[in-house]
Amino acid sequence: MSHRLYIETVGCQMNMLDSEMVVADLRKRGYELTSDVKVADTILYNTCSVRAHAEDKIYSALGTLKLMKKRNPDKIIGVMGCMAQKDQQVIFKRAPYVDFIVGPGQLQQVPDLIDQARLGEEQQMAVGLGRREGSNDDIKRSHETFDPLRDPTMRPTPYQAYLRIQIGCDKFCTYCVVPNTRGPEQGRPPQQIVEEAKVLADQGCLEITLLGQTVNSYSYTDGQGRTTRMSDLLKMLHEVNGIKRIKFVTNYPRDMKQELLETIRDLPKISPYLHVPLQHGSNDMLKRMRRGYTVEEYREMMHLIWDTLPNAAVSSDFIVGFCGETDEEFQTCIDSVREFRFKNSFIFKYSEREGTKAESMLIDDVPYQVKQERNNALLAVQNEVSEAENIKFIGHAVDVLVEGPSKKADKLEQNGPLKQMVGRTHCDRIVVFDGNERQAGQILPVSIYETTPFTLFGAVVTQEAGPEVYAL
Ligand code: SAH
Ligand code: SF4
Ligand code: F3S
Repeated sequence: MSHRLYIETVGCQMNMLDSEMVVADLRKRGYELTSDVKVADTILYNTCSVRAHAEDKIYSALGTLKLMKKRNPDKIIGVMGCMAQKDQQVIFKRAPYVDFIVGPGQLQQVPDLIDQARLGEEQQMAVGLGRREGSNDDIKRSHETFDPLRDPTMRPTPYQAYLRIQIGCDKFCTYCVVPNTRGPEQGRPPQQIVEEAKVLADQGCLEITLLGQTVNSYSYTDGQGRTTRMSDLLKMLHEVNGIKRIKFVTNYPRDMKQELLETIRDLPKISPYLHVPLQHGSNDMLKRMRRGYTVEEYREMMHLIWDTLPNAAVSSDFIVGFCGETDEEFQTCIDSVREFRFKNSFIFKYSEREGTKAESMLIDDVPYQVKQERNNALLAVQNEVSEAENIKFIGHAVDVLVEGPSKKADKLEQNGPLKQMVGRTHCDRIVVFDGNERQAGQILPVSIYETTPFTLFGAVVTQEAGPEVYAL
């Protein structure tokens, strides 16, 4: 009988991709996925440590397994990912019935860890951060080897896939735990990335999203001393037949160079969508966060983007309530959202993280209530801006990569041929329209007649819309 695997993933796209890799590995060994934790014989949590809330969620999920494990000691429970790397033994202290923990750099060991646990091995731990020295070995150890048997069923849709081009982060922003959980920044060899893109294209993928913590800082130097940068890599990937769209997240403001922007402008498959978080609108706060740029420098970068890519959509992340943030300082975030007209922003309340510079050097002194109020206030302004920007699309047609029926369509249980479908523009805006399921995986021109801050509503343009179709 085959094994039944339940896997739950929290955190960023890196984690989604890691889970896909682990599932692919286990499928090769005869595991089947189940969405019911009760019938699973193997239970995996892929965890995130970026904010306390993400960790609390996992610890409380683990708590609910205690009784189950007591009744069924044969069930194997594993904790993978960033929290495994960060908390290590703490996880066994809080949940002694967990069989193994495994860091993001050791995920290729998961099948063996499960086998050992079945043989009775208790509380196994595989953690550690790969160093630059002997980086080829580290890359292997970091589960970064080219794996043609990736599991398509774990993808956001059959037409879209993540592709890691870089692991780790070297920036050490004072609030952030990621360099401690994912280790130093390393670019993957470009040939490996291109090969993987070809496999994805053969599997029917139309859109790839390149992943890295500071993806535009991508750099790889081979044995002969030849360096490949982000713009070179994009040119190589642009040649892969079958791939229609290439996106990449997350960008680091200081590395947003003219050459990269010109490459995006000149290559039609590269999406004019840039997630390049500002994090804060005040220079003092940016300094305390050790982000490595000023608001003036960010503004210069925005002008470079607007001049080179007038139709680009730029999105941001913000942290509110970081150490020492005054009302006036917070106000600068509001001003910057209005000035920079972000397509959207992910707004987070500062959450102090163990092992970071902010934890040891600064005081987390903004009350939770104030963080919450600032979060709401900034979100309200961002929504206003998003709405105003979206309204500009009314009366225009956009090219939409159709992903499938919308969530609402499932709720409505629409049975007829007409279904509410959802897809995205080249610049990553969500578009909803009435269509049918056969349209999934096509890129169709959709004329927009209504908008909200988050969604464009439209109808498929049946005739070739000609020059009116925006390549957005
Ligand atoms: N590498 C990416 C982001 C990784 S984490 C970058 O540099 O932009 C994703 C987002 O979580 C960050 O952009 C930041 O806004 C937020 N974040 C990181 N650490 C946080 C913390 N301690 N508390 C609250 N939000 C945090
Ligand atoms: Fe964290 Fe800063 Fe690295 Fe992003 S760039 S992962 S925020 S340390
Ligand atoms: Fe979380 Fe790790 Fe991603 S801490 S945000 S899962 S890199």
